[in-house]
Amino acid sequence: MKVCRNLTAVFTVCWAVLGCLQAVTLEVNEGNSTCIKAELSASLSITYVSSNSSRTVSVPLPDSASVDAANSSCGADGSPAQLVAAFGAGHALGLSFSTNGSVYSVRNLTLRYNLSDASLFPEASSSGVVTVTNDSVEIWAPINTTYRCMSPTTIVASGDSVTFSRMKLEAYMPGNDLSPAESVCTADQSTTPATPTTAGTTTTAAPAPTPPGAPERGTYSVKDSNGTECLLAQMGLQLNVSYVSQSQNKTVQELFNLTPNLTSWSGSCGASRATLVLTQEPTLTLSFTFTMNTTTNKYRLSGMGLQANWTDMAAPFSASNASLDFLRSTLGHSYMCNAEQTLQVAPAFSLNTFRLQVQPFGVKTKQFAAAEECQVDQDQMLIPIVVGAALAGLVLIVLIAYLIGRKRSHAGYQTI
Ligand SMILES: *[C@@H]1O[C@H](CO)[C@@H](O)[C@H](O)[C@H]1NC(C)=O
Ligand SMILES: *[C@@H]1O[C@H](CO)[C@@H](O)[C@H](O)[C@H]1NC(C)=O
Ligand SMILES: *[C@@H]1O[C@H](CO)[C@@H](O)[C@H](O)[C@H]1NC(C)=O
Ligand SMILES: *[C@@H]1O[C@H](CO)[C@@H](O)[C@H](O)[C@H]1NC(C)=O
Ligand SMILES: *[C@@H]1O[C@H](CO)[C@@H](O)[C@H](O)[C@H]1NC(C)=O
Ligand SMILES: *[C@@H]1O[C@H](CO)[C@@H](O)[C@H](O)[C@H]1NC(C)=O
Ligand SMILES: *[C@@H]1O[C@H](CO)[C@@H](O)[C@H](O)[C@H]1NC(C)=O
Ligand SMILES: *[C@@H]1O[C@H](CO)[C@@H](O)[C@H](O)[C@H]1NC(C)=O
Ligand SMILES: *[C@@H]1O[C@H](CO)[C@@H](O)[C@H](O)[C@H]1NC(C)=O
Ligand SMILES: *[C@@H]1O[C@H](CO)[C@@H](O)[C@H](O)[C@H]1NC(C)=O
Ligand SMILES: *[C@@H]1O[C@H](CO)[C@@H](O)[C@H](O)[C@H]1NC(C)=O
Ligand SMILES: *[C@@H]1O[C@H](CO)[C@@H](O)[C@H](O)[C@H]1NC(C)=O
Repeated sequence: MKVCRNLTAVFTVCWAVLGCLQAVTLEVNEGNSTCIKAELSASLSITYVSSNSSRTVSVPLPDSASVDAANSSCGADGSPAQLVAAFGAGHALGLSFSTNGSVYSVRNLTLRYNLSDASLFPEASSSGVVTVTNDSVEIWAPINTTYRCMSPTTIVASGDSVTFSRMKLEAYMPGNDLSPAESVCTADQSTTPATPTTAGTTTTAAPAPTPPGAPERGTYSVKDSNGTECLLAQMGLQLNVSYVSQSQNKTVQELFNLTPNLTSWSGSCGASRATLVLTQEPTLTLSFTFTMNTTTNKYRLSGMGLQANWTDMAAPFSASNASLDFLRSTLGHSYMCNAEQTLQVAPAFSLNTFRLQVQPFGVKTKQFAAAEECQVDQDQMLIPIVVGAALAGLVLIVLIAYLIGRKRSHAGYQTI
């Protein structure tokens, strides 16, 4: 069997704090025909032990990744149909497929990485190749259709994870090109691309859009490979974005509320790093990265990124910052802030949060642990206490004055 390889870098997408994601095209061929084809971007999140601590690195699948011909197969001779993309010093990402004649699906995902590669894993305390697998990947489609998922999809394998985005994939292909019939993943279906509900979509020469009011509160959660909730979030989110408007030919500043029932989400959990990615197709991706300091057991929101492509934008908008220090709390607690908070991410992007409660680590039984509240909430709680104390003081003063007054007047009667 002769398996050929083919690889093209189609375009490069910079995706939030996870770094620049390359879109790669991978094909497994047998003879003159293609049996598996994938166009996708992937970001690998790998946790390893360095000299003293546990570290997590984000590795984009580079456009130099190529199909590993020896390990890839069309599955003709009884072997499983398999796509293995190899890159760098012995790293690989593999997908195994199976079919029952009417449906094909990903049987398992395998991630193999070489800890001896100091350029990706500096100061790793162990060396050698690590292989992790997830054999319950929820990717399937009817045969002769292309599986399509533009939204980020995270697949966790042991402590590591792979986040695919902008994915088109087909196995057991009837022709050499992806079938035009598409099977769209549920994350993409939950939104209606025809009517993007962005504040920036008002038509040409429209008056300044009215401020959208407070955003609705959304509930988001991330599950680990066992299907257990490991990150919980409830919050109303409002984006404040400055961009160059095509219709007005100048920089404008817009407020934009996230609509929870049009938002899909994904993410990953780890001992020291957790992510939550919110997507409002097709125009918006907002990502949060939480990190845990394992020495102090304190966590914080350390990174945020926004990509948007609203119709009035002269160019797609992208902003991210990986060295933030917001929403600080302690392991075993959630972070809560009912008051509005403004998180400045980049000069052109800030995020307003409303009625926020998050817990990115140490989630047990699907429920928030006791909350550590933000200073503003604590101050607001202080106001009624101060007012109450002042009132009590006033009543006391009046009472004392009355008693003294009464004593004086009694004394007055006695002198007559
Ligand atoms: C592949 O294509 C070439 C030229 O089009 C043809 O000569 C050859 O027989 C084909 N091989 C197979 C296995 O179909
Ligand atoms: C790592 O641990 C060693 C002792 O185990 C200590 O001397 C060293 O300072 C630590 N390094 C860091 C960066 O914490
Ligand atoms: C890939 O092929 C090499 C030999 O070419 C083999 O040593 C390795 O185990 C294979 N990897 C997988 C994941 O099958
Ligand atoms: C993945 O699935 C293929 C085909 O079903 C199987 O041969 C392979 O052993 C599986 N790999 C792991 C690590 O389970
Ligand atoms: C792992 O990386 C080291 C250092 O880059 C290299 O010498 C070694 O050959 C690699 N191992 C494999 C299996 O590729
Ligand atoms: C193939 O699998 C799908 C999903 O598991 C099932 O709905 C379908 O009936 C199966 N088809 C055959 C021919 O077994
Ligand atoms: C898929 O397409 C091929 C070629 O067009 C056809 O022979 C086959 O019957 C199709 N399979 C299904 C399940 O529709
Ligand atoms: C999944 O469950 C197994 C067995 O209950 C446990 O050992 C493992 O740590 C769990 N994995 C995660 C990511 O929670
Ligand atoms: C936009 O404004 C700049 C100067 O502010 C001008 O040079 C340019 O021609 C304008 N473009 C359009 C399309 O009006
Ligand atoms: C979203 O929620 C609003 C109000 O809660 C409702 O009016 C609207 O129909 C919902 N839209 C969808 C697509 O569910
Ligand atoms: C954890 O916190 C300690 C004390 O604030 C600090 O010295 C250390 O650098 C932090 N570690 C990480 C990985 O941020
Ligand atoms: C942004 O949107 C415009 C039109 O709405 C489209 O032509 C362009 O390709 C989009 N850019 C990206 C990077 O998606």
